[in-house]
Amino acid sequence: MNIRQQLTQIVSDAFEKAGYSREYGNVTGSNRPDLCQFQCNGAMSAAKEYKKAPIAIARDVAELLKADSRFSMVDAAAPGFINMSLDEGYLAGLLNDMAADSRLLLPEMQPLTIVIDYGAPNVAKPLHVGHLRSTIIGDALYKLAKFLGHRVISDVHLGDWGLQMGLVIAETRRQKPGLVYFDPDFTGEYPEEPPLTVDEMNFIYPQASARAKEDEAFAAEAAAATVALQNKARGYYEFWQQIRQVSVDDLKRSYDILGVSFDYWYGESDAAPYIEDVLKLLREKGLLQESEGALIVDVSMPEDKEPMPPMIIVKSDGGDLYGTTDLGTLLQRMRDWNPDEIWYVVDNRQSFHFKQVFRCAGLAGIIGDDTLCIHIGFGTMNGKDGKPYKTREGGVMRLSDLIETVTSGAYDRICQSDVIGEEEEKRKAARMVGMAALKIGDLINHRNKDYIFDLDRFLATDGKTGPYLQYTAVRINSVLSKAREQSLKPGKILPPATDTERDLMLSLIGVADNMLRAFADKAPNVICESLFDIATVFNKFYGETKILTCADESRRASWLGLLELTHRMLIILLDIIGVDVPEKM
Ligand code: ARG
Repeated sequence: MNIRQQLTQIVSDAFEKAGYSREYGNVTGSNRPDLCQFQCNGAMSAAKEYKKAPIAIARDVAELLKADSRFSMVDAAAPGFINMSLDEGYLAGLLNDMAADSRLLLPEMQPLTIVIDYGAPNVAKPLHVGHLRSTIIGDALYKLAKFLGHRVISDVHLGDWGLQMGLVIAETRRQKPGLVYFDPDFTGEYPEEPPLTVDEMNFIYPQASARAKEDEAFAAEAAAATVALQNKARGYYEFWQQIRQVSVDDLKRSYDILGVSFDYWYGESDAAPYIEDVLKLLREKGLLQESEGALIVDVSMPEDKEPMPPMIIVKSDGGDLYGTTDLGTLLQRMRDWNPDEIWYVVDNRQSFHFKQVFRCAGLAGIIGDDTLCIHIGFGTMNGKDGKPYKTREGGVMRLSDLIETVTSGAYDRICQSDVIGEEEEKRKAARMVGMAALKIGDLINHRNKDYIFDLDRFLATDGKTGPYLQYTAVRINSVLSKAREQSLKPGKILPPATDTERDLMLSLIGVADNMLRAFADKAPNVICESLFDIATVFNKFYGETKILTCADESRRASWLGLLELTHRMLIILLDIIGVDVPEKM
């Protein structure tokens, strides 16, 4: 059990022994670290049930706890708080237990099967910064859930089946009418060479989308090409397969740099075979209604405060819609994995879409009452003008350009110091530092908040930045390797010798609890806060303490043990948010 759970059990026992219900014994971290390390506010709620002054209840319980040697201090404070601090021997014991436990004293849990849908780039359209946020947040949640012992499945959910595909087909047909894919009389084998390169593709899509806005006939052509593709028309389908592959290969290169990989590379197109069954389920339940040539489902509920328009399932031209595709994907996920939870890490602007999809899936029985679908939304990354981050020319920033900007910023900083000599090593470190800057710059904010992309701030080695954390880990590592060179071994962790050391120990034992909180709130920023908490107090401790030259052998070994544990905790948490640590910095 982690520390908070252990204390909750101790305090619950005391409540019970004092004649109150044990449900009031919940312990939290202290709101007043100047007074105590932990607190229990249960006496305030118990007061109502027992019609007694909260302070009287708090005193009864505190009296019993005072006899417990695991506490150095227990106090009942007005109006009814129970304040507690840990005995230092007990604290050191907890750290030694944690050091010996690969699960960091996390409680045994019933593992859940969780599908996480994140990343979600679109074929032929370049990845942009919105996809970046989804990728970074989703990847952190994936790794966190996995660390906690859940069965987690990630699916990139590629946008490969919508109108953008019809636009690319129609535009390519205009620009390269000679391609065999567009020859209705062609009966041979289609070429192995892809018809477009990534660069051509990235160029064609914006052209097509601009043309469709001005030219109605072209827009109709693109819509028709989309429906034809969805019906797997010969030529179009083969063309699509080729450009999908080109796109996927390119996306994988960007994701590689980000250090992100997916268990499944399914796309919207993979939902197509399930749509027939979705329609069948909706029909059987009598949910489909006709309206102006389209098929719709009423997803409103009596408790709705805002109007909830019906969900369109099939358009009048027969094409698959984004929402319908999501229903098909849900059916596939239920059949393949039967998950307990499905998390969609998609920006807040799509919250209405998911509300409709989840309601419709519930009504149709695609998901049962025991499957939880959660939209995990997030805000936007803005430029210094407070508007969504753009390129200098004013376009949407491409992810590959952003990565380049951040990496070269990191490279310049690395070149300013002479810690790393070799060019190749410099480049490698620049990638790690750049990615850390970008990821922490994002994840330190609660996901729902918009934030400002500020490269100089993200790359600083002080403040709440990625490089600061990396620097701290490198520093610990270098002390540990110096110790190894001098054959000094880490040993059992002793009770703290100073206030700062005690603070460091307290932030370390808080990690498991922070992980559980981050998981419950789907909030990677809690992991970041835990990291900065540890790093800040560690750096203070390090500044105050002469470790390697300490004459007291068991104290020195204890400090080395504490350093080892600190390093391990930093690496575990950094791994969760996808940050690597260079050897030198
Ligand atoms: N590809 C979509 C976009 O770029 C996001 C898809 C999110 N996932 C989903 N299951 N709808 O906006």
